[in-house]
Amino acid sequence: MSGFVSSSIGKKVIMSVTGLFLIIFLCLHLFINLLALVDADGSIFNTVAHFMGTNIIMFVMQWVLAAGFIFHILYSLILTLKNQAARPVKYEVNTRSDITWSSQNMFILGLGILAFLVLHIINYFYKLKFTDLIESGQMSEYELVTSIFTAQYWYYPVIYVIAFILLGLHLNHSFQSSFQTLGLNNSNWLPRLKFIGTLYAIVIAVGFSIIPIYFLMKALL
Ligand code: HEM
Repeated sequence: MSGFVSSSIGKKVIMSVTGLFLIIFLCLHLFINLLALVDADGSIFNTVAHFMGTNIIMFVMQWVLAAGFIFHILYSLILTLKNQAARPVKYEVNTRSDITWSSQNMFILGLGILAFLVLHIINYFYKLKFTDLIESGQMSEYELVTSIFTAQYWYYPVIYVIAFILLGLHLNHSFQSSFQTLGLNNSNWLPRLKFIGTLYAIVIAVGFSIIPIYFLMKALL
């Protein structure tokens, strides 16, 4: 088992499985966040956010999620360094049609997303879990979410939307790549997976972007 985990294919499988887990997390996270747009006072979002925040299953899932992120990031680092050591000079000409800009820049896109995640955890997760802003009644979950998407903090919506574009590019390649690594790579399935991956990446990037843009517009108009 330890031989598999430390082998190149083992590392790629771990990247794929943790990546697929993160793909599912993003769907759920997007769905819950979009609830903030459903009613004017955010009571639907507050109810769901409160349920998610106080549920034992969600508590366990958060640890699984954290482990998923850590494995995904660590293994990407190891694989990238190993690949660079094996091929220090970049190929000059790229003639393969399946090589896209995203596929060649997955690591750098991942670093951008990691920087966003650090900011995002400080913006929300930290304030929810390690301060008493909500318990003391100073603000609701909805007010916390919308508090950084205002005219005063205009740069947050800008940073968030840029991060969602990077995320979309990362997902566009990683979705089909995860399935390919796990063996679903025959000529029938590959074009379908590419199509579903691109659709998924657009839904995630556009879906998440709607949130900061909507609240910034609401604050400005
Ligand atoms: C406008 C878009 C987004 C909003 C409004 C938002 C909002 C939130 C909120 C309120 C929390 C705290 C939830 C809690 O702990 O109860 C949270 C946590 C988190 N978010 Fe986001 N998020 C957004 C986009 C994203 C994206 C694109 C990613 C991934 C790349 C992401 C990753 C995470 C992670 C890993 C956590 C910590 C785990 C968790 O609490 O579920 N978020 N987010």
